[in-house]
Amino acid sequence: MNLSQFPHLPNSVKIVEVGPRDGLQNEATIVDSKVKVELINRLSAAGFSNIEAASFVSPKWVPQMATSAQVMNSITRRAGVIYSALVPNKQGMEAALAAGVDEVVIFGSASEAFSEKNINCSIKESILRYRDVAVLAKANNIRLRGSISCSFGCPYQGAISPESVAVIVRQFRDLGCDEMDIADTIGVGTPRQVQTVMQHVMNEFPVSGLAGHFHDTYGQALANIYASLEIGISVFHSSVAGLGGCPYAKGASGNVATEDVIYMMQGLGIATGIDLNKLVDAGQFISRHLGRKSVSRAGNALASKFLT
Ligand code: HMG
Ligand code: MG
Repeated sequence: MNLSQFPHLPNSVKIVEVGPRDGLQNEATIVDSKVKVELINRLSAAGFSNIEAASFVSPKWVPQMATSAQVMNSITRRAGVIYSALVPNKQGMEAALAAGVDEVVIFGSASEAFSEKNINCSIKESILRYRDVAVLAKANNIRLRGSISCSFGCPYQGAISPESVAVIVRQFRDLGCDEMDIADTIGVGTPRQVQTVMQHVMNEFPVSGLAGHFHDTYGQALANIYASLEIGISVFHSSVAGLGGCPYAKGASGNVATEDVIYMMQGLGIATGIDLNKLVDAGQFISRHLGRKSVSRAGNALASKFLT
């Protein structure tokens, strides 16, 4: 067998830890801000260079994120770590600036129906709204990231064409995004579909700035990450202990568990800069606090080894 015929995988990848935001935003019981701070500090100590720590959205829409300013003001800032936050409008941007975030995330959708449900406006209106955010980000030298929900399917509309994902990516690119997340909000995508959508998107945005954001509802996320690696994607989002879901995507489960992703990357010889033992500890910490078992297979397997 000639191994050289197999695709070349990157030597290193960036893993963006989204648990404190995407993970916790869906928790019905309000998590104390001290616990969120402890989680973020444990994650930065584990070696993440980018942590999605907060969300400056309306507290009427997502009550769990109401303490975002307090969280941002209380974490121990590690040098070199980018602490990101979602912002839905100018009001959120002003709050994010006051809290000293390093990167703001504007979030749109490839699905018209999801845009209305999630941010209460059409796709076209969202672009106009985000223009104000983008101007403020550039004026303040803050990194701007774009996130495109429902890139592989929508809970309200069903199928989404790769062409419609590329159209919104182009519009977000023109706002000045430095990085672009292609999100499988409800975790329905499969590996070939992921490659097809990513290839459409690559015509609009440099591959080095594309990120795979895969929820694991149908158990496809690790396979989708591998399929993305094969075509040159090198940024992935994941959530410690597999926390999460989106409050506006009923039935969607959390992001792929970070512990599982790091375990796979280690096996592939791909550097992440993350200390897996410290990460497993962080996963067990938040799971204990939430009173349930982590959904990370690798995390639980490694934790049971430590305990024996
Ligand atoms: P709206 O109700 O149309 O907003 O919501 P509005 O401008 O009419 O304002 C209504 C009230 O909200 C006002 O307060 C505003 O001050 C307040 P009132 O006068 O009634 O007391 N308000 C705010 N408060 C704090 N911060 C703000 C803010 N904006 C308005 N930034 C809005 C529109 C966009 C605000 C709302 O729909 C919203 O906050 N949506 C966010 C929903 C959300 O966070 N969803 C989850 C995150 S997205 C996600 O998880 C997907 C992702 O992971 C990728 C993937 O997996 O697909 C990123
Ligand atoms: Mg998400």
